[in-house]
Amino acid sequence: MSKEFRPWPAFNPMRDLLPNCRPALVLAPMQDVTDLPFLRVLARRSRPDWFVTEYFRVHAQSRPEPHILRTIEHNDTGRPIFAQLIGQDLPHLIRTARELEPLPIAGIDLNLGCPAPIVCRKNAGGGLLRDPDQLDSLLGGLREAIHGRFTVKTRIGYHDPAEFPRLLECFAKHAIDGLTIHGRTVEERYQTPVHPDCVRLASETLPCPVIANGNIVDVETAAAYHQQCQPAGLMVGRGAIRNPWIFDQIAAHWEGRPTAQATHRQLLDYITDLYEESARSRDDFNPKAHVQAMKRVLAYISHGLADEAFEFEIRRATTEQGFFATCRQHLDHDTPLPARPPADSKLFCGFSALLTAGSAETRKN
Ligand SMILES: Cc1cc2nc3c(=O)[nH]c(=O)nc-3n(C[C@H](O)[C@H](O)[C@H](O)COP(=O)(O)O)c2cc1C
Repeated sequence: MSKEFRPWPAFNPMRDLLPNCRPALVLAPMQDVTDLPFLRVLARRSRPDWFVTEYFRVHAQSRPEPHILRTIEHNDTGRPIFAQLIGQDLPHLIRTARELEPLPIAGIDLNLGCPAPIVCRKNAGGGLLRDPDQLDSLLGGLREAIHGRFTVKTRIGYHDPAEFPRLLECFAKHAIDGLTIHGRTVEERYQTPVHPDCVRLASETLPCPVIANGNIVDVETAAAYHQQCQPAGLMVGRGAIRNPWIFDQIAAHWEGRPTAQATHRQLLDYITDLYEESARSRDDFNPKAHVQAMKRVLAYISHGLADEAFEFEIRRATTEQGFFATCRQHLDHDTPLPARPPADSKLFCGFSALLTAGSAETRKN
């Protein structure tokens, strides 16, 4: 594995966010998950170098969503946060960016990756990738209007990875400050391995830092993805819900520090912390609704544990008491957690390909 890093010039706007000795580590924005309670709970276990908010939906009638504003205004994690926008209406994207710029944000990020049909039909999110000319004028307009950092989070095309070089031209032309690439097309949604060759092309050709995203679930997949495309950073989403220690584990790997795999008891403590922190943040706390919300997050956490009964039983919990009884019954012991989900996992589909391609690359070199 290469531990070489490009020295970013002093005038690079991302320079002060990028560590010198390892890739930058970033928590992926995830709607209805990466709210302020989640960021706090994660930061108590391992801190990425920066965060990105859930997206602010932008259209003619939109006002920045109060709960996302709260994440920015009360961010006490000690790490900077980018505000992400989704939309296709330039005047309103500019209006929203101007409203957000005075807040304590690290920059504005534009979402070009959301695959939800309702978003793509409106030519927003991943839908914009079908029309490079519209994308070109949108990026031009936003670049001119945004005084601070302006970054983009994209997929590699809508239908086909062959669309990516044309998209790269747009990103290069408008001097964005950073590009995060979820290495799949919109049509591939979450169902395929990622395409590290596209991320590699971007990191070799763009003057800004490139952050690789998609299917990082542990230290080995992070190192393999990095080896295959040499990005300036790595972004982790679902893998960080499952394993909130992952950022420290990846950093330790690069820094040559030892780290231990977390135990089931630490997982129990994490679930309890998340339950309580998010309960405290709700004015309208309702235990039954809260258990249902927690179960959506638990789908990522319970998946692939050796004790399969936990995943099955937690889905059936309806009360706070039942929820915690199930957690305690299955997690209150010191056995280490598995490093990765099962190789044939449907929920974390395709991550094994990073490891196979990584070892092929090592053999080649
Ligand atoms: C529940 C969920 C919500 C998401 N919401 C957003 C979002 O608001 N903005 C965004 O750019 N990407 C969003 N994504 C995509 C993630 O940021 C990330 O690109 C994707 O999950 C792949 O990374 P991973 O394999 O590390 O999870 C979301 C993904 C999930 C699973």
